[in-house]
Amino acid sequence: MPTAELIHDALAKVIDPEIRRPITEIGMVRSVEVDGALAVVGIDLTTQGCPMRERITTDVEAATRTVAGVEEVRIELGVMSEEQRLELRSKLRGGKPEPVIQFTQPGNMTRIYAIASGKGGVGKSTVTANLAAAMAQDGLKVGVLDADIFGFSIPGMLGVQGQPTRLDDMLLPPIAHEVKAVSIGMFVPEGQPVVWRGPMLHRAIEQFLADVFWGDLDVLLLDLPPGTGDIAISVAQLLPHAEILVVTTPQSAAAGVAERAGAIATQTSQSVVGVVENMAWLEQADGSRLEVFGSGGGATVAGRLSKVLGTDVPLLGQIPLDITAREAGDAGTPVVVSDAGSPAASALREVARKLTSRQRGLAGRSLGVTPVKR
Ligand SMILES: Nc1ncnc2c1ncn2[C@@H]1O[C@H](COP(=O)(O)OP(=O)(O)O)[C@@H](O)[C@H]1O
Ligand SMILES: [Mg+2]
Repeated sequence: MPTAELIHDALAKVIDPEIRRPITEIGMVRSVEVDGALAVVGIDLTTQGCPMRERITTDVEAATRTVAGVEEVRIELGVMSEEQRLELRSKLRGGKPEPVIQFTQPGNMTRIYAIASGKGGVGKSTVTANLAAAMAQDGLKVGVLDADIFGFSIPGMLGVQGQPTRLDDMLLPPIAHEVKAVSIGMFVPEGQPVVWRGPMLHRAIEQFLADVFWGDLDVLLLDLPPGTGDIAISVAQLLPHAEILVVTTPQSAAAGVAERAGAIATQTSQSVVGVVENMAWLEQADGSRLEVFGSGGGATVAGRLSKVLGTDVPLLGQIPLDITAREAGDAGTPVVVSDAGSPAASALREVARKLTSRQRGLAGRSLGVTPVKR
């Protein structure tokens, strides 16, 4: 005979697709009743218009049916009360009633990489989206914050549609390719420009950090706007321990623009984790490399930044020009997912692994000491 307890245990295996916690843990299972072979399960959705309602219903039914003796399942959907939602939000915030930036709380273990470049069009967003997807493929819990407010492209590149679900003042980020992503592009009507100034930009980044339920992330990647403007400074203020990853092409390296993005770290006391050279070459049919934008740029930038910052800034990888990478970005599936064997995907995956296998702690971290000049 099935019992309510056995069904409850089975329901503990149902994970809420947005919150990524067992539904039994987040107060969604209102009631379980058994009448012979019939199980009646009461489920409270977080919001009335919960976009995941069908998926949850299917998962609850399937889990309930795994209990021996259950032949019929009836699911009674309801919605959490104001009070339940308040309790859930507080639980998701780790017992804190007010929104806080979890990443700056003591004991937070999330690594934060801010992807920066001197100018636009060098492949910063492509690198961000692919590193995120590659890390998620390796089993890490990854979030992407699209901090390029004016030139957002993360929703398109990750193929995220729709808005975050609102749990009152908390936002549940959409998940694509196992990556949680939030972007201003999810809030502005299509084709409409964002015309904000400094304080609004700062507030937007702050809200994305504090009001979004990121959960326990291993890695948070921020796609910064090009250059060294207000947003880069806001990010440095809000997340002082974020490390900067500089993306350059061989050509923009020659012009010295990439270094400015990295050198801002001296003012913000952030550290630069390394340099990625994108669009490094185009592989020819005969296997030779056509260096469309010149060569050696990434190494040059890494060398110059090492000198300016007084720490070793490594060249973490060279990503070839690759049509599949561009097509994949346009289609909303990063190339590391859509065409994992392509040259660009292999190079991107290698960079992702270098970042995730780094020693936590002092390695690469600014010690706050000024190197002695000779
Ligand atoms: N390695 C690459 N091979 C081919 N196309 C690329 C590569 N990296 C980026 N692109 C393409 O170049 C364009 C600019 O890249 P994007 O990531 O949007 O740059 P940014 O974010 O720095 O402005 C996009 O169309 C993108 O698909
Ligand atoms: Mg971009």
